[in-house]
Amino acid sequence: TNDLTLLGLESSCDDTAAAIVRLKDGAAPEILASVVHGQTDLHAAFGGVVPEIAARAHAEKLDICVEQAVAASGLTLQDMDAIAVTAGPGLIGGVLSGVMCAKGLSAALNIPIVGVNHLAGHALTPRLTDQVAFPYLMLLVSGGHCQFLIARGPEDFSRLGGTIDDAPGEAFDKTARLLGLAQPGGPSVQAQALNGDPKRFRFPRPLLDRPGCDLSFSGLKTALLRTRDSIIAEKGGLTIQDRADLCAGFQDAVVDVLCKKTARALKLYLEENPSQPVLAVAGGVAANTQIRAGLEAVCAQHRVAFTAPPLALCTDNAAMIAYAGLERFRAGLSDDMTLSARPRWPL
Ligand code: KG4
Ligand code: ZN
Repeated sequence: TNDLTLLGLESSCDDTAAAIVRLKDGAAPEILASVVHGQTDLHAAFGGVVPEIAARAHAEKLDICVEQAVAASGLTLQDMDAIAVTAGPGLIGGVLSGVMCAKGLSAALNIPIVGVNHLAGHALTPRLTDQVAFPYLMLLVSGGHCQFLIARGPEDFSRLGGTIDDAPGEAFDKTARLLGLAQPGGPSVQAQALNGDPKRFRFPRPLLDRPGCDLSFSGLKTALLRTRDSIIAEKGGLTIQDRADLCAGFQDAVVDVLCKKTARALKLYLEENPSQPVLAVAGGVAANTQIRAGLEAVCAQHRVAFTAPPLALCTDNAAMIAYAGLERFRAGLSDDMTLSARPRWPL
């Protein structure tokens, strides 16, 4: 048969994950198991991900994740056709832990190893969840990345633009830190913003005056810091309402910038691919409900189909890695024991 079943491993940032995905000829891909062990608690006291702590935790947790994924799938390791693993980009210690684990399994089971680019994992997720056909426009928004890509094939992406400084997830995380909210910042800021007035503070919308699809988020965080400090200087502290209004204003600026740049990227994309009007989003920040709603509205305006993976597949996970591995493997591509971890690896 042409059925393929892959085990995927992910350990490039602060989530250790293992998943099993199966592809049957002509059928939708199936996630048989997906296990994610987050490390938020381990890093909480440090206000950010500590690479050394992350690497050690990945090394400890990978085996457990694999065991749990295999058990949940009802299969055995012997049923796997190959091992897909994130080979970069990311924190080198974590990526190495994953690659070493994959090499061990590959040697023990005598099956191929497929190195996967973490960004390709995110960018191909709409094909895993909704069988979106190539080409499509992809907005990848996460803690470390922000870019517009045209996805033409499993290894064929072209970049229309992206952030010139911080990623939006990073901006959400820093905003949370500045306001004393829990990490990861995205969900905390989103929750606070629900009760806030987005019109009370007007934060900058950088680069909107310039042509193209590049974005910038570092000025936004600086503006937030200044506004926070002037409230504190004036009133001696932040009230619950101040915090909510700051979050709402910040989120509003992010949504505005992302939507306006998306409209531009769509125009460029549609000139080249008028018959495939599709925008897909992926990455942790795509979990934000305001951002989703904004992008949906832009797509409706341009008569473009919008797809976003379910929340659990927007943030880091191994199902996307197993699936991206499946696409590579099916195309006849695989790696061997010489596979190396690449901290930097642009798509
Ligand atoms: O894709 P991801 O899991 O990790 C990588 O960066 O590769 O994304 C994590 C990022 C974090 O910065 C987190 O704050 C952000 O996604 N995030 C959100 C939301 N949920 C997670 N940002 C805004 N709104 C959310 N609801
Ligand atoms: Zn990611």
